[in-house]
Amino acid sequence: MPQSEILTALLDALGHDVLTTRDHLLERRNADWSGLPGEAPLALLRPRSTAQVSQALALCNRFRQPVVVQGGLTGLAGGACTSAGEIALSLERMAAIQEVDAISGTITVETGVTLEAVQHAASEAGLMFPLDLGARGSCTIGGNLATNAGGNRVIRYGMARDQVLGLEAVLADGSVIGGLHKMVKNNTGYDLRNLMIGSEGTLGIITRAVLRLRPRAGALATAWCGLPDYAAVTRLLGEAQRRLATGVSAFEVMWPSFVDYMLAHVSTLRSPLDTKHPFYVLLESAGGDGQRHQDAFEDFLADMLEAGVIGNASIAQSQGDAGAFWRIRDATAEFPILMPDLIAFDVSFAIADIGRAAQHCDQALRAAWPGSTVLTYGHLGDGNLHLIVQVPGGGETTADAVEALVYGIVREYGGSVSAEHGIGGKKRNVLGHTRSPAELAAMRAIKFALDPHGILNPGKVLPAP
Ligand code: FAD
Ligand code: LAC
Ligand code: ZN
Repeated sequence: MPQSEILTALLDALGHDVLTTRDHLLERRNADWSGLPGEAPLALLRPRSTAQVSQALALCNRFRQPVVVQGGLTGLAGGACTSAGEIALSLERMAAIQEVDAISGTITVETGVTLEAVQHAASEAGLMFPLDLGARGSCTIGGNLATNAGGNRVIRYGMARDQVLGLEAVLADGSVIGGLHKMVKNNTGYDLRNLMIGSEGTLGIITRAVLRLRPRAGALATAWCGLPDYAAVTRLLGEAQRRLATGVSAFEVMWPSFVDYMLAHVSTLRSPLDTKHPFYVLLESAGGDGQRHQDAFEDFLADMLEAGVIGNASIAQSQGDAGAFWRIRDATAEFPILMPDLIAFDVSFAIADIGRAAQHCDQALRAAWPGSTVLTYGHLGDGNLHLIVQVPGGGETTADAVEALVYGIVREYGGSVSAEHGIGGKKRNVLGHTRSPAELAAMRAIKFALDPHGILNPGKVLPAP
């Protein structure tokens, strides 16, 4: 099918308002944050409604035209990168917050809206939307749902899928499924909503969602702790979950490699402690009653200090202090400038195994590539480890060898090759480390049933047959 025919058909149906072939727009739309190269797409679609998404997909399906759906392009797995000949479909004009229902505790949005805009809208209604991650200002709810994003508060509130009540999506043939309902309980057959969530644009385009809001915490108590060993890290986690009445809302762990690197390379950061430790934990607890919660938090940390679980701690006395702690953790956003040639991992293990697995990776990497940089940190309360590796002078072959080494260790420990970023185009060749042949066959059958011509995000998620 000549490319001009599909473009003519799309133009006739949707007009120049929705379809553009302008070079500068296409260039901006060919890659995400993964570092994978992208090629300029054939055209860019920017629909304004679900009906237009449906029209566009029905035509693309008829013409067997591949489509890559794009949100804020902050994805780290290459799911939104385009190849030449594909059409990019951006949700950037579908960014409306359609309703905040404070009684039901819901917000209804078009999925091109940014995560931060949803957080603000929830806050203005006296509630909160708990999903949170460093890319909040640019990533979209559509991207968050399509990747089932995790982030900083999973330990308390769950992942993106746990924030969704209703969902509307457009399938490859243009049909619209789902409903914008607000019920928590809805056991009515196969859960198509959860099938769409985490499918990374390969099964449908998520156009609108009803998200669940939570009561806003009266107080956030935050501390930056230095700990002597991994056993102390897991003990702190267990004790905090047991003793802090409202539990733990973030438990971010950073190895000294990460903290020292950030403090040395980002001039605006200051160390919260004047002592060095083998592990650092950013501990946050969201509570109801301001001062009482802070007092209980400080008592808890005093006990942990006395018991030797914590070597030293800095307790935030203001939002400014807490923000300064989080800025060290969120400095990962600087990586594209600090370390453009990094090799990044987003893996998960049982919490009991993480200390050993991380040490295993670190030692094996440094032994194989002396002089390499290995930074380790993660959402440890969820068993999620991030590893950042840089091998000076290393090219593509080295990157492949680094990946083989790390994913080999992941397999050895029975972990997952992607905890939260997804598979995209980057990790489809290692999906088989974590998923069995029978599971891959089931995934292919689902893909074929919903997208028989394979027009949605081809070459992503599923390994080549
Ligand atoms: P995009 O990058 O545009 O797309 C991501 C994938 O979703 C692609 O496969 C795309 O095809 C698909 N997609 C996008 N919109 C739709 C839609 N409406 N319907 C169907 N498919 C769609 N991720 C985490 O999980 N936890 C973190 O802590 C975290 N921190 C980050 C910090 C930084 C600094 C950065 C840059 C990224 C971080 N990420 C994190 C990764 C990223 O932000 C998330 O994956 C985010 O959910 C992607 O949203 P997006 O709108 O940018 O999606
Ligand atoms: C983070 C991203 C990379 O946690 O997931 O910093
Ligand atoms: Zn993360």
